[in-house]
Amino acid sequence: MLKKDEKKNEKKRERDIEKLVKKLTLDEKIAMIHGASLFRSGAVERLGIPAIETSDGPMGVRAEFMDDRWIPSGNEDDMVSYLPSNSALASSWNTELARDMGHVLGAEARGRGKDVILAPGINIKRDPLCGRNFEYMSEDPALTRALAVPFIQGVQENDVAACVKHFAANVQETDRQMVDEQIDDRTLYELYLPAFKAAVQEAGAYSIMGAYNKINGTHCCENKRLLDEILRKEWSFDGAVISDWGGVHKTKETAECSMDLEMSVFPDFDEYKLANPLKELIEKGEVSVDAVDAKVRNLLRMMYRLKMIGPKKDSREAGAYNAPKHREAVLRTAQESMILLKNEKHTLPLDAKKIKKLLVIGANAATLHSNGGGSAEIKALYEICPLAGLKMYLGGNTKVEYAQGYYVPKVEKDGGENWQATSVMEDGDSEIGKAVRDEAHENENNRRGDEERLAKLEREKTEIHEKNEKLFAEALEAAKDADAVIFVGGLNHELDIEGFDRPDMKLPYEQDLLIEALLKVRKDTILTFVGGSPVEMPWREQAQAILWSYYAGMETGTALAQIIFGDVNPSGKLAETFPVRYEDCVTAKNGQFGKWGKIALEEGLYCGYRYYDRQRIKPAFCFGYGLSYTDFEYSGLTLKAEKGKNVKLTFSVKNIGKRAGAETAQIYIAPIAAQVDRPDKELKAFAKVEVGAGRSKKISLTLKPEDFAYFDEQIHGFVADAGDYEILVGASSEDIRLRGIATLS
Ligand code: BGC
Repeated sequence: MLKKDEKKNEKKRERDIEKLVKKLTLDEKIAMIHGASLFRSGAVERLGIPAIETSDGPMGVRAEFMDDRWIPSGNEDDMVSYLPSNSALASSWNTELARDMGHVLGAEARGRGKDVILAPGINIKRDPLCGRNFEYMSEDPALTRALAVPFIQGVQENDVAACVKHFAANVQETDRQMVDEQIDDRTLYELYLPAFKAAVQEAGAYSIMGAYNKINGTHCCENKRLLDEILRKEWSFDGAVISDWGGVHKTKETAECSMDLEMSVFPDFDEYKLANPLKELIEKGEVSVDAVDAKVRNLLRMMYRLKMIGPKKDSREAGAYNAPKHREAVLRTAQESMILLKNEKHTLPLDAKKIKKLLVIGANAATLHSNGGGSAEIKALYEICPLAGLKMYLGGNTKVEYAQGYYVPKVEKDGGENWQATSVMEDGDSEIGKAVRDEAHENENNRRGDEERLAKLEREKTEIHEKNEKLFAEALEAAKDADAVIFVGGLNHELDIEGFDRPDMKLPYEQDLLIEALLKVRKDTILTFVGGSPVEMPWREQAQAILWSYYAGMETGTALAQIIFGDVNPSGKLAETFPVRYEDCVTAKNGQFGKWGKIALEEGLYCGYRYYDRQRIKPAFCFGYGLSYTDFEYSGLTLKAEKGKNVKLTFSVKNIGKRAGAETAQIYIAPIAAQVDRPDKELKAFAKVEVGAGRSKKISLTLKPEDFAYFDEQIHGFVADAGDYEILVGASSEDIRLRGIATLS
């Protein structure tokens, strides 16, 4: 559309919105700005304003829930495609796949009749133990931004709003409702905000979810600095801000800042802060109606864009869920998401023809993960676990034996009320919705949830140890005469879960002991893992082959088998550092993670590889790392300053192996004589290219002035100092292949 026509349409839209606002009564306006059911806002039928239907979440459209209870409706028609988690998607470093996954999610949401999908989660991973890391992309803002933008665009192509979450700096689950994060501006602007800014300005996200946590003393959902100054004023966001469920605490403050729709986990909808309590304040003259009008406008604008109202109502996309092509896209993403961490002696790929008897060991080989994790849980149409994937791949002429290997205590699903309501409700609070959460925070009872869970995990250790004796022995015995042994271990959604952080970074269920024993019997055991966050791998030196998969969706098993047997050449690279041990993390050192009350993000910018670089701490597997079945050679870096501003760089990547493969080349900048303290290097661009055996590909990329900039708190803006910058081209953050100097004038 021409710019002129666009402007005209926008003007007409704003006029239409104004007309509607004028016609709405106060009660109707108030109905629109808070939940009328657990996932739906209030409608105004008289004026043709529909309810806004929302749904989780990031790995597929969540099952239907009852209107006023956290109980799944129990329908048979709400199973959906199970998408790779954001941590998996990010490991693909593939922006096209990000768009595809966004498109699939949006199409499925629309197909299920939704208006807003509560995804993607784009928080920066600050500590490997954060329970929701599996839902997030990376420890790096540039990578997160590069993937979030096409993902959001993909979602919204379907006339569904992405609700980008959780704004902002939602870095831990411990005390998630009340934790007060002390963050300085530079850290906020350089690390925790850039992906959100790009979501708004580049992707045009229609909605944003306010986070549960506080920043510098104020809850995100009533945080004027965050919502009014940064989001609205600095970034010109004119879409809708939706609260996280139960994230609103104070009526007046929330009413008077840019929080447009209050959602919660309680069924007393009229008592939501932006319902009767707000009406009372308005009637007393303590809050002006203008504050409500502003919210209504933002919501109507989003509805207009989604074609829920307005002249284009009849041309709204219909979407589709469970379309066969969605499964294909999910498989492609799964294939590119898995990361080959180690492959000595060409252990992988295996030659299927040479295997008469395959032994698969490990509970995660036969575990389904889709229905767990918290609000990211879904009812998958199907999920191919690794064991199924391997059997489906090999067919009936190969004997595939399975040994559980290690014991996983049964998860008691209570079958009824969902954890989500109680996760926000106070312990022992019978009268739903009367919870005064600020006071509750002072109450020891609230911490009991965490302590009880830790105590349960501790108790289970004895049970695990007893049961493992037999399971270990069986597995080790079977390993002796198998032609190949594949171990599938890792984590599950008992640990990668919303509401709790992991207690440590170790593999659970004594897997380390089993792996060590296995490697003694079979040095060539192929170690594969499914999990949502880094684990310590104390046996990694002894292992020959290690393959890591995040929760990679409904085709996890298919993709895993294709990589193991060489039909697919792995190309995933880590979007986060795997430290040797938890104690190596900056947060373990400064003790500012997983605490109740206040945490200070003292490390500032030194999160992830920025910290390991600075401290010269060698991680087990660094950011950006991942192997292929072929090798790549980098050459011919040229740097050219364009128009005195942009820096254009070109170089070549040659596949020097015998099979086709894909390589992600990463561009880091390292300021040589910075005026202020800056990280040793920072990712600024990357390119993933497929290269045939023996062939080369030329890569051209452009760095903009903003890529060289840092946030200057004095002038409250980004500045790029003139001078020299080293440009590093790497196959990972440690494996720098080419270097050049760019000079900014
Ligand atoms: C989570 C959100 C989720 C919402 C609705 C909250 O507990 O933090 O990510 O979208 O619930 O289920």
